Amino acid sequence: MKIAVTGGVGFIGSNFIAYFCSAHPEHHVLNIDRMTYAANPVTLQYLSKWKNHSFLKLDICDSHVFEAIEGCDAVVHFAAETHVDRSMLDSSAFLKTDILGTYNLLEAARKVGIKRFIHISTDEVYGSITSGSYDESSPLNPTNPYAVSKAAADLLVLSYVKCYEIPAIILRFSNNYGPFQHPEKFIPLFITNLMEGRRVPVYGDGLQIRDWLFVEDTARAVELVLEKGAPGEIYNVSAHQERTNLEVTRSILKLCGRGEDFIVHVPDRIAHDRRYSLVSAKIEALGFSARHNFEEGIAKTVAWYRENQQWWKAIRNSDEFLDYYRKKYPGL
Ligand code: DAU
Repeated sequence: MKIAVTGGVGFIGSNFIAYFCSAHPEHHVLNIDRMTYAANPVTLQYLSKWKNHSFLKLDICDSHVFEAIEGCDAVVHFAAETHVDRSMLDSSAFLKTDILGTYNLLEAARKVGIKRFIHISTDEVYGSITSGSYDESSPLNPTNPYAVSKAAADLLVLSYVKCYEIPAIILRFSNNYGPFQHPEKFIPLFITNLMEGRRVPVYGDGLQIRDWLFVEDTARAVELVLEKGAPGEIYNVSAHQERTNLEVTRSILKLCGRGEDFIVHVPDRIAHDRRYSLVSAKIEALGFSARHNFEEGIAKTVAWYRENQQWWKAIRNSDEFLDYYRKKYPGL
């Protein structure tokens, strides 16, 4: 089988490729990535060690995507702008890549007659929930431009299933964490700040709740639906590891050998969703269960950032990141 993976130099995409290429030497992965600010060239160097992996620098909005995926049996579509805070600074890239890029890819998949199209989505499309959990039939209620761009892409995918019988499957994941995550995101930002001796910016009261899924478990979920998922279906994927942001922060502080005096409460994110929570019984019925609880996953993650300082320092020392950080976290 030949699989086209979009956004394969990004966080979840690269972890999926590393996992999948090791587990399936019989398959080939074509990695299509535009190499935005979120793609670290060091990640690509790391992936090049797999002989069943090849790379193509291409924007999913480009008309050449059609030629690129010709001859592929499946597409796994990770490529997206993903950082909520950036989507509130400027949402144009989100609307373009996440919606128009998905449209372009769906059109290409339609023309080449792709046999499987896995669309990677998020629990953010459902919005916040105070108690209980959302299942796949819950209404969509996205509350920030990033989440709206993903919800729109999901609806577009479903319309292509209905109108053109594209064999697409949507996976809605809870919060991912693990190696190779960009240090603009909560967990790697806090780990690398502490490693640099800086304080960590907790938004608001820090009692917001996320459900943390280790990225290797995400790779297993994608592998599972590639094999056993039913076309046209949506599957929520959760690790059942809900933690408040303050609980996560305290775990990181402990693993990094720092005290609570490193916490700074900063103004809350606008329209900050209080809690995400998913029912994931549908994918569990296919055989999925997360193998990492949060304590195991976070220990592995901190160890990875300790051992791979060259990887994250390349990002943190870039002008792009320094500029973003200074604007976003003045005084930190
Ligand atoms: O829920 C799935 C989503 O998880 C994905 O769809 C998104 O692409 C991904 O970025 C993530 O969104 P979040 O907004 O939940 O992730 P983020 O890492 O930005 O923030 C996690 C929590 O930590 C959130 O409640 C905001 C808080 N936070 C974040 C940052 C960057 C802070 O308290 N301080 C910070 O500096």
